[in-house]
Amino acid sequence: MTDSRVPQPPPAPPATPVGSSVTGEILGDLTTKRRRPEPTAIVIFGATGDLAGRKLAPALYNIMLDNAVAEPTVIIGVSRGDLSATQFADKLKPKVAEFSRRKVEPATWDKFAKSLDYVGGDFDNDATYTALKAKLETAATKGTRGNRVFYLSTPPAVFPLILQKLEQHKLIERDVQGPGKPSCRVIVEKPFGRDLVSARQLNEMIASYVDESQIYRIDHSLGKETVQNILVLRFGNSIFEPLWNRNHIDYVEITAAESIGIEGRGSFYEATGVVRDIIQNHLLQVLSLVTMEVPASFSADDIRDEKSQLLRSVRNLDLNDVANHCVRGQYRGYRQEDGVAPNSQTPTFAAMRFIIDSWRWQGVPFYLRAGKRLAERLTEVNIHFRAVPLVLFKEEAAGSVLQPAVLTLRIQPHEGISLRFVAKVPGENINVGNVLMTMTYADAFKRPISEAYERLLLDCMRGDATLFNRRDSVDRAWELIQPALQIWEATPGVSFYDAGSAGPAEADAMIGRDGHTWRELVKS
Ligand code: BG6
Repeated sequence: MTDSRVPQPPPAPPATPVGSSVTGEILGDLTTKRRRPEPTAIVIFGATGDLAGRKLAPALYNIMLDNAVAEPTVIIGVSRGDLSATQFADKLKPKVAEFSRRKVEPATWDKFAKSLDYVGGDFDNDATYTALKAKLETAATKGTRGNRVFYLSTPPAVFPLILQKLEQHKLIERDVQGPGKPSCRVIVEKPFGRDLVSARQLNEMIASYVDESQIYRIDHSLGKETVQNILVLRFGNSIFEPLWNRNHIDYVEITAAESIGIEGRGSFYEATGVVRDIIQNHLLQVLSLVTMEVPASFSADDIRDEKSQLLRSVRNLDLNDVANHCVRGQYRGYRQEDGVAPNSQTPTFAAMRFIIDSWRWQGVPFYLRAGKRLAERLTEVNIHFRAVPLVLFKEEAAGSVLQPAVLTLRIQPHEGISLRFVAKVPGENINVGNVLMTMTYADAFKRPISEAYERLLLDCMRGDATLFNRRDSVDRAWELIQPALQIWEATPGVSFYDAGSAGPAEADAMIGRDGHTWRELVKS
C-alpha cells in the first residue's frame, strides 16, 4: 500500500499542541426533538450480574437524575436467588456508587431505589414468570400501561429458554405498536453468537418470537457521543467530505487499547477472545461510520442501510491476508489468570487490515487494532492524509521532515478531535514543525458526557433503533472476521507481549510492511 513515489517519513515526533481554544456554540438539534419515553417497565434478566452492576444500574440512576424518564418507570431485576426489592437495591447501591458518573446522594438514591423491584427464581421455572407477570400487571395499573423492555443480560445460551417462557406466559408478543398500544421490546447484549452460523441461529431463534423492529442488539460503542459525532463531523461540515476518499487519504487506523486485563472474566474471555469481543462489533461499527456513504436521512433505517452496504463492500479476508495482514497476540501472564487454560491460544490482542472495494476507498488500507493490558487506555481513529508532492522542497530533507496531516477522532478518554499538520517555524529559514490543533468536548461544550448505556436505554424506551445493530450488519461482521477466527483456532501461533506494552512486535512489522506506523501507545 506504500506509494512508491513518495519517500515514507519516519514516525512522527510529538507535535506541539496549539491548545484547545475552541469554544462550542450550541446550534440546535438535527434530529426531531428527543421526546421523553413513555413510562416503561424495564425487566433485567441477569440483574445481579456484572453488567447490571457496572453499567445498567448506573445508567438508569443517571437518567433518572436527568429527569429523562417519565414517572412511573419501574425496573424489575430477575435473577437466581431470593432477594426482596430492598435487598436488591442494597446490592446495587455500592456498584452504582462505584460506577456512576454522578455521586450517589441519599435522597436521589432513595428515589431510585423506590423504582426497583425484584423477582428471584430460575429461568426455567414457571413460577419465576408468574411472579414477573404479577409485577408487570401491577406496574401497568400504576402507569406503565403495559410498555415493557426485556433486557437479556445473560449468557446467550439461556436466551431461547427465557424467550420461550416469556411467550408461554404471554409476556412478549409480536409487534403490537400502534396508537394506544403498549410497546414490547427485547434488548440483546453482545456477543450475538460466537460465529456466523451461531449468530444466524440466534437471530432466527429471536425472530421466531418477536419482529426485527422489536429487537435491540446493543453495541455500547454506538452510544458513545464521540462515535455519534463521526457522522456530524463528516456530513455537517463541507470541508471534510471532499477529502474523505482515496484521493486524499493514505490509510486509516482504528485503535481500541485497554490497560486493564480480563478483570476476572477468565472463562468468558477464553470462549471469546479479542476478535469476538471488540473487533467483530465495536471496531467494525466504528469503521462503518467512518467510511459509509451519505445516508438519505438520519433515520434508523437510512443510516443502517448505508452501514450495511459499506460492510458488504469490505473485502473478505483470504488465507494470505490472515497470514500477512493480521496478527494475534496474548499478554504475558494471561495464562495464569483464573479460568484460563495453561496453554491457551486465546488472543488478547489482534491487529487486522481490511480493504474496502468501493470507488471511494479503493486502495486505502484500514488497520484495526484492539487489545487488553496495553500501555494506555485509548480508543481513537487516525485518518492519515497523503503526503504532499515534494517538488517545492528539497526532496531528501523534505521526505524526512514533512509529515502528512493526521486527523484524529478521539473516542475516549479526553474525547475530542485533533488535526496535526505542519507549519513554518518562525525564522529566516523555511524550517517546518508539526503542530496539533485540538478540540476537546469538555472544553468546547462544558457539558458532561453521558455514558453510552444511558443514551441506548432511553433510545430503546423511545423505540429509536438507530444506534442498535441490525441483523444484516451483525451477520456481515461475523463473515468478515470468520477467516481469521477459523485459521487461528486451527493453528496455534499467538505472539506474546508484555503487559503495559504496545502489543506484539509482529503488529508493528505488519503495518510497517505497508510503509506505515501505528499511533504510539504511551504509558502514562
Ligand atoms: C466490552 C468488552 O464490550 O467493552 C470488554 O466485552 C471491554 O472486554 C469493554 O473491556 C470496553 O468498553 P469501553 O466502553 O471501555 O470501550
